[in-house]
Amino acid sequence: MKILLLLGFVAVALAEVDFWSPESADLVTIDIDVDLHVPAAHTDMVYTILQQSGMETGVLIEDLQAQMEEQLDNRTPDPRVHSYTKYNSWDKIQAWISSISSSNPDLISRQVIGNTYEGRPMNVLKIGKKSSSTKPSIFMDCGIHAREWISTAFCQWFVKEALSTYGSDSEMTGLLNQMDVYVLPVFNIDGYDFTHNSNRMWRKTRSRMSSSSCIGADPNRNWNAGWCTTGASSNPCSDTFCGSSPESEIEVKNVADFIRRNKSSIKAYLTIHSYSQLLLFPYSYTFELAEHHSELMTVAEGASKALRSLHGTQYTSGPGAATIYPAAGGSDDWAYDLGVKYSYTFELRDTGRYGFLLPESQIKPTCEETMLAVKYITSHVQKNL
Ligand code: ARG
Ligand code: ZN
Repeated sequence: MKILLLLGFVAVALAEVDFWSPESADLVTIDIDVDLHVPAAHTDMVYTILQQSGMETGVLIEDLQAQMEEQLDNRTPDPRVHSYTKYNSWDKIQAWISSISSSNPDLISRQVIGNTYEGRPMNVLKIGKKSSSTKPSIFMDCGIHAREWISTAFCQWFVKEALSTYGSDSEMTGLLNQMDVYVLPVFNIDGYDFTHNSNRMWRKTRSRMSSSSCIGADPNRNWNAGWCTTGASSNPCSDTFCGSSPESEIEVKNVADFIRRNKSSIKAYLTIHSYSQLLLFPYSYTFELAEHHSELMTVAEGASKALRSLHGTQYTSGPGAATIYPAAGGSDDWAYDLGVKYSYTFELRDTGRYGFLLPESQIKPTCEETMLAVKYITSHVQKNL
């Protein structure tokens, strides 16, 4: 209780304390590790408060500014060129979406599902062998949270791998022959652009409300699934602000509409976040077990094992509420309650050493291992159509 009060105090006293894990002070509970980002001017004060309270402390990243610059080191000679092993700006991703979607009309097409708050087009890529009839499908999104750059990198990697291994890898070939995979490479484009141009640690959308000067809502607290009942904030200035109503964020509304429209074909929903190395499934808005809990757990454990087999990266699997914290209004719970049984949230590398600033040198190994987990899940889905 003391710890809770104290952290609450630190958070309130210093509005600038940026919670990395968990994502806000309200989600802090007893006996957990908390990763905080503290402005240089306040480090002594925060350190003293934590020391005096007898909390164990350690420094993960001494100089965030330096780490941010290092993360983008080894730039390609031409910074305009898209690369699968770099963090690409939205401009580069947009150009990549255009070129890749016209590269192989037999396997890939795109559609705009609406615009973001600031008017950027949300493109969904449809990957799968062309067919005259509607195929069963999987929906995957990346970049719900702006600062989770490795997530966005994974969607690009997945598209590349799907196209380049179709015809040679039997699992991928089988998947794309039988199913379509819808990929939304960047969900929260306005926020993602903002992390490249203004504030690297931005998480939310960029929507404005007349009632507050604070900007944005948490696009993973804005879905109509126990909306704003737990682990979310009704304060517009919080990083976990649930929004003014369910689907108040146009990006959430666009994706929810798309999934509702294609509900009869969508068999799995995958949403990619970072960091913590977790494979989560419903529920997060309640501690009650999902109807398909044991199957979801078995598949998650198989997927984690497949992931680990490549570089030894350890993942923890389980339902969101019990595995990390209860948090309502998430896309995974919403999709599951809509009837999409295989609904999973990935939290990619790492466990806090670099956090959101995962170096570009880790993009390739992270994407490679994650492919194994995603393919494990898709193959289970395929066998159970
Ligand atoms: N770190 C993620 C978040 O806070 C976890 C999401 C888990 N799912 C959920 N519905 N809360 O958004
Ligand atoms: Zn996230």
